Order: sequence, then C-alpha cells, then structure tokens
Amino acid sequence: DLLALQGVERGTFKLAILTTVKYTVPKLLGGFCAAHPGIDVAMVVGNRENLLQRLASNQDDLYIMGQPPDTMDLVSEPFADNPLVLVAPRDHPLAGRKRIAPRRLASEPFIMREPGSGTRLTTEKFFAEHGIALKNRLEVGSNEAIKQTVAGGLGLAVLSATTVVSEIALGELVRLDVQGFPLIRRWHVVYPRGKHLSAATLAFKQWLLDHR
Ligand code: PGA
Repeated sequence: DLLALQGVERGTFKLAILTTVKYTVPKLLGGFCAAHPGIDVAMVVGNRENLLQRLASNQDDLYIMGQPPDTMDLVSEPFADNPLVLVAPRDHPLAGRKRIAPRRLASEPFIMREPGSGTRLTTEKFFAEHGIALKNRLEVGSNEAIKQTVAGGLGLAVLSATTVVSEIALGELVRLDVQGFPLIRRWHVVYPRGKHLSAATLAFKQWLLDHR
C-alpha cells in the first residue's frame, strides 16, 4: 500500500562495510540509490575489529563483514565468497611455479595488515597451522598501500582477491600458486538480533542479496 511504499522510498540508513568489501558493494549501493532517490545512505569502511566495536555499540543498521562472532546475538546471512590470494611482484622468482609448498615461503618477507584485520587473522592462522612463523617485514594498514608496497618489491602479501583484480590484470602483481590457496572466507550481511530494521534498510538488504 501507499504508506508502506513511502516507507521504502524515504528514509536513511547506516551501513558499515569491511575494507575488502569496498571494491564491490559501493557499486551495488550506487544502483540502489539511483533506483531509490529518496533514501539517504551513510556508509563507513573499517576493518574487522572496527566493525565488531560498532556492532557492539549498535552504531549502524547493517554490516557487511566476515565471520560473525558467536559471542554476540546476531542475524547473519551469507553474502559472497571472499577468496584470499598470495600476491608477489611480477619478477618474483616463484612467479609461474606450480603448487608451491607453504614452507617455501618461510624465508620470504611479508607485508601484513594491521592487528584487527580479518585478512591478517586468516593469514596468520593458515601459516601457524603449517608450523610457519612468517617474517613480517612491514605492517601496513591499508590494502591499497600494501599493493603498492608489494609491487615495489618489498615482500609478499595475502589480500582479498577483489582488492587486486586490476593490478593482476595489468601485470603489476602476480598471484602465486601456493598449496592451500586461495584461503576461503565469506562475507555476511549482519545485524543485531532483535534490532528493528527500517523499510529502507530491508529494501537495501534485499537489493544486496538479489545482486550478489
Ligand atoms: P579486514 O577485512 O582485513 O579489513 O578486517 C577482511 C575480513 O575480515 O574478512
């Protein structure tokens, strides 16, 4: 009915997304906003730890994050796969090798994301499970800066595949074929259980799931 329609066509909502999601979801958001010009959206971008803190203090309507913590009472719907790949500068000696053993990387310098990053957490877990202590050469708090640092020859990195699509296409970075990779994470659309979602928020959530 008309009232319900007005509810969807007007309003605001706040969205919080992971740093690795900003290569895909903002485009979807663009399509949604064009289709619903009366809805205003505020979007923040943060790492896993930032989003968990925002969730705990109920700062946003909807979150797009990795594995939701089981310590909070949340509603979580799988959104898309987030494969993590191992990237190197294009002239790296291991470029083009098949099925590289993880232990072969123990002597390589790595560029790591900041503590609080889900990408970092997953990377550390993988290498710890293989009994490998990585040599952290540099800690860099942004996917963008890490790509440049790797391309500049300072080390290797594990990054969400969506963050390096253009660099790989342009040949600035290469993906190493390491056993166990890609590491598969998954993005979820998340909100606190019991939270009232406005009509605008529900419409966007549906849009996301329809366009994933
Ligand atoms: P992050 O995002 O590395 O920016 O925290 C990735 C994730 O949690 O999957």
